Amino acid sequence: MDFNESLELKRKNAESILNDYLPEADGYQSMVLDAMSYSAMAGGKRLRPVLMKECYKLFGGKDKLIEPFMAAIEMIHNYSLVHDDLPAMDNDEFRRGKETTWKKYDEAIAILAGDGLLNYAFETASGAFELAKDEEDYKRIAKAISILSRKAGVYGMIGGQTADILAEDNDNVTKELLIFIHKNKTAALMEASMMIGAVLAGASEKDVLDMEKAASNIGIAFQIQDDILDVTGNEQELGKPVHSDEKNSKKTYVTLHGLSESSEEVKRLSTEAIDMIREMADENRADASFLMTLVETLINRRK
Ligand code: IPE
Ligand code: IPE
Ligand code: MG
Ligand code: MG
Ligand code: MG
Repeated sequence: MDFNESLELKRKNAESILNDYLPEADGYQSMVLDAMSYSAMAGGKRLRPVLMKECYKLFGGKDKLIEPFMAAIEMIHNYSLVHDDLPAMDNDEFRRGKETTWKKYDEAIAILAGDGLLNYAFETASGAFELAKDEEDYKRIAKAISILSRKAGVYGMIGGQTADILAEDNDNVTKELLIFIHKNKTAALMEASMMIGAVLAGASEKDVLDMEKAASNIGIAFQIQDDILDVTGNEQELGKPVHSDEKNSKKTYVTLHGLSESSEEVKRLSTEAIDMIREMADENRADASFLMTLVETLINRRK
């Protein structure tokens, strides 16, 4: 099986796990449940749960313990997108080739659907305790939940989104602030994914920290590439509008450094991450070739 076939299988696997964990639309609140499914099942690369599972396997993980966390990270990612698209934030009307949640329903339902996905993510992740076999599993799950809450919160994704919004009116955005934004709004959820994979498989503290660093690079590179595609991509392929950043006067890697330096930086950060993953795999006598190829393909991704 070649890399792309294998990636598609893993994407589908992550999607079906997510689908299984999403709640049914029923009761007086069925509208919000429906909106949660609409946004979560609209497509998407499912990159974060795929990264999580690959890291779990790298450190010898074999159980279903990882599955509630794969669903939870994708719920949190989707909530972040539902809120990111709101008129008060990026004011975008298309995502993954479909109307954004606020456009399809309305703003109130989109806000509530985002809140619903966030809370349901933690309910889902906590369900992993029921799959625990021993005390060691309990400890790992508790640690994974603490990573998930930290990285999704004000010291992670929410912090980054806040700085991103505030930077719209700031004409003196420094390289340091921009890296803070990228590291938090985007890399934090990648860090959570890869660290949780490692933690649940019982990786050493050093390996978990190294995974955090590799994921930070991957996430920053991913956002720089997202900013590049906002300028050079096409809407059909991306499934979301181009020039959204310009419309919102966003300061991006591209506005600060230009396209070619931005591409170089994506490559440099990704290559460094691949080297770190190779080293961890060698030390743990594991095969991380799929994971390394995945990070490499992200360098030139078009969507
Ligand atoms: C989009 O993330 C938001 C960013 C962090 C740039 P993805 O590009 O992973 O979105 P989907 O889930 O594949 O649609
Ligand atoms: C969003 O960055 C990152 C999130 C935490 C949602 P963008 O605003 O650039 O993401 P897109 O381009 O709308 O997907
Ligand atoms: Mg945004
Ligand atoms: Mg946006
Ligand atoms: Mg963008």
